[in-house]
Amino acid sequence: MAIERTFSIIKPDATRRNITGKVLSYLEAAGLRVIAQKRIHMTKEQAEGFYAVHKERPFFSDLVTFMTSGPVVVQVLEGEDAIAKNREVMGATNPANAAAGTIRKDFAESIEANSVHGSDAPETAKQEIAYFFKEEEIVG
Ligand code: TYD
Repeated sequence: MAIERTFSIIKPDATRRNITGKVLSYLEAAGLRVIAQKRIHMTKEQAEGFYAVHKERPFFSDLVTFMTSGPVVVQVLEGEDAIAKNREVMGATNPANAAAGTIRKDFAESIEANSVHGSDAPETAKQEIAYFFKEEEIVG
């Protein structure tokens, strides 16, 4: 299994409830290592660009409003099979469908306020990391 990097966001519902450490403990327990991290408040333009793939979907404008409703923690995670591992520990998009022991099962408030984002493939991981981090901010 290759060492991979993936991109993660701890979303505004989690910063609002002050549970970023709890969320991070699930990521670390899954074998993922934080090699870059910062707290930011996304602008509308940043959120629209990040979720551009969803711009025709009915939930797009609410999603952008939610993602800009408070600070987030953006992260680069590294580990063996990091992309799939992160998706596994995140759980299903809709917390009602998320497996026991996953972040979304234990913390998400709704399908929209679902506590975390994680890249879904190597190409998107690369693009998403570059969208928020300069190479020198990543310390592996
Ligand atoms: P998506 O990429 O389908 O899910 P994931 O975050 O699990 O990769 O959707 C991106 C985000 O859009 C999702 O985390 C929350 C939001 N969303 C909604 O608000 N409503 C919806 O019906 C869907 C599918 C997603």
